[in-house]
Amino acid sequence: MTTPDIQTIECDVLIVGGGMSGCGAAFEANFWGKDLRVVMVEKAVIERSGATGEGLSAINCYMGMRSGWNTPEDFVEYVRNDMMGLAREDLVYDVARHVDASVHMWEEWGLPIFKKPDGSYQRVGRWQLPIHGESLKPVVAEPARTALGPDNLYERILITHLLPDKRDENRIAGAIGVGVRDGKIYVFKARAVICTSGGASNIFRPRSTGEGLGRTWYSVFDTGSVYGLVIPLGAEMTQMEHRFVPSRFKDGYGPIGMWFQFFGARATNAYGEDYTQTRAPDLKKWDPYGSAVPTPTPLRNHQMFLDITEGKSPIYIRTEEAIARLSKDDNGEFDPEKFEEVRSEAWEDFLDMTISQALMWASQNIAPEDTPSEIVLAEPYIMGSHSGEAGAWVSGPEDLSPPEYRWGYNRMLTINGLFAAGDGVGAAPHKFSSGSFTEGKIAAKAAVAYARDVADAPQIDEDRVQELARDILRPLDTFKSHSGVSTSEEVNPNYLMPKQALIRLQKIMDEYAGGISTQYTMNEPLLKRGLELLTWLRQDLDQLAARNLHELLRGWEVVHRAWVAEAHVRHLIHRKETRWPGYYYRSDYPDLDDENWRVFVNSRFDPNTKNWDVFTKPYNQLVK
Ligand code: FAD
Ligand code: ADX
Repeated sequence: MTTPDIQTIECDVLIVGGGMSGCGAAFEANFWGKDLRVVMVEKAVIERSGATGEGLSAINCYMGMRSGWNTPEDFVEYVRNDMMGLAREDLVYDVARHVDASVHMWEEWGLPIFKKPDGSYQRVGRWQLPIHGESLKPVVAEPARTALGPDNLYERILITHLLPDKRDENRIAGAIGVGVRDGKIYVFKARAVICTSGGASNIFRPRSTGEGLGRTWYSVFDTGSVYGLVIPLGAEMTQMEHRFVPSRFKDGYGPIGMWFQFFGARATNAYGEDYTQTRAPDLKKWDPYGSAVPTPTPLRNHQMFLDITEGKSPIYIRTEEAIARLSKDDNGEFDPEKFEEVRSEAWEDFLDMTISQALMWASQNIAPEDTPSEIVLAEPYIMGSHSGEAGAWVSGPEDLSPPEYRWGYNRMLTINGLFAAGDGVGAAPHKFSSGSFTEGKIAAKAAVAYARDVADAPQIDEDRVQELARDILRPLDTFKSHSGVSTSEEVNPNYLMPKQALIRLQKIMDEYAGGISTQYTMNEPLLKRGLELLTWLRQDLDQLAARNLHELLRGWEVVHRAWVAEAHVRHLIHRKETRWPGYYYRSDYPDLDDENWRVFVNSRFDPNTKNWDVFTKPYNQLVK
């Protein structure tokens, strides 16, 4: 058995994950807590980690308050409609009122934002600003790195578990993880912990297979850790049944927002029909949300879905039409200069965010000015920062939240001293990069206050640490003990490899919880059978094997993903309606039921009894 080499780090505030919200948290915690020790732990390197690592082509959450474009109230109304009536309006408002300041700061730090000749920002849609965003993450990471200082940033360490206080299991005391380069066990002792370790891709079988395996829309490095860390500790979760099914350029997963809104492209089916027009009457059934402007994201998907299931694929996004229209001068004549500009913007949209889509164009001889591109509905993602609202149930801001949404510090979970931001916070979607960073700042200010207020130092159960350290490294030992009993290292009756576990998880979710192969459709018996299969998978995860530190990382990522999957299925079983057609369909409850189900579905896993409790919490309309 490997003897763990354990290193302990003590701090006041610990930030788990150095993505968008983690960087915001680091910057802000340093501002409010100059005399405190603020530490960040990240499994990769913050300049390129997380969902923004590849770069982005737009800032998707910006109010433009100084230009009079929108108010936070407008944003709440938009988000509420996009979520078909269910969002924590206190949290959404809180992000909206602070987000513009974050964007202005990024510009000061060097982020190039598209400008008009008069110097004002260009816009994509109502809430989005186009950017030259290839280097957005380094631009945001550098000030975070500086704020933390060289002794307080621990990179290449995967956090596997959060640690409760020895005397009070409802209080946080730190986190434990493994160095993915040195194999050491790291224990972080902290008064307050901000969990920002990102949403979940690869829970469902992706569309990409074989040579494309590993390509998904949301970052493959976002493994649901923000949920997989807080759920086992007993934190209350909300809206874990919610998922985001993005419509994306086929096979490269290129985003469509810039094309629809900035370039003004249409999408048509194989017969040239625009489903947003021909399927307009199909929205009526989903009123009042069906009549909302803009049409909520799930309903836009639903319209495409109806065409696909009627056999009208492929669906094409008409890039060639859009480029031709934008290449005309004021007299309606072709303008070669404009054409070159639009064409280069079209390529930049992918080269600065989803490079693989540009490669798909190149490999399939697609010139976007000549050829339309196929778009499809992707597999579901569980996340809380984009058009998904899964996450932790958190306390809201003191000036906005009703008593049932507030029990302490802003963005604190139901565990004392544990905070979250970005994908980790539930029922507060449409934050994207800028809103996640902003929410990280909000959480950090509150976490600093908590770390100051809490009288006594946290205490960690040392026996538990020893036990966890052995558990964390066990896959390496399992491999050493059993490899050799079969001719292939990867096929062995005594263990399963992380990749095999991942594929098994994805197959269960795909077939039983409404993935692509079942057309996003499920019923209670299917879900219950899926839950049974997940339980056995979870048991088998004790037999994970790892040949090296890389596979050890992959193994723990699957463990986190399995927690997300189980929470998702349990919540799906509880909500007896179809609230988000286009994201999923309950064949046994095919209608939206505002009367009974305009409520949040919440859950709590009890770490002592190992039982789950799933229940509802009221929705409160704060903005009229
Ligand atoms: P992330 O930024 O993903 O950060 C999570 C961090 O936690 C990562 O650094 C990760 O390495 C680390 N981590 C994970 N697990 C662990 C662990 N166990 N231990 C330690 N560290 C861990 N937003 C926009 O505003 N505009 C856009 O144009 C846009 N386009 C997008 C395009 C793509 C392809 C993608 C994937 C996302 C896009 N987004 C866009 C959304 C935006 O990137 C996310 O909303 C945002 O990054 C979420 O922030 P986060 O901090 O919650 O997660
Ligand atoms: S990205 O974050 O990966 O770039 P995406 O391209 O889907 O996501 O969306 C970017 C932004 O545009 C989001 O705010 C999304 O809600 C919005 N959006 C995308 N398509 C449309 C549309 N047809 N109408 C209105 N808003 C849209």
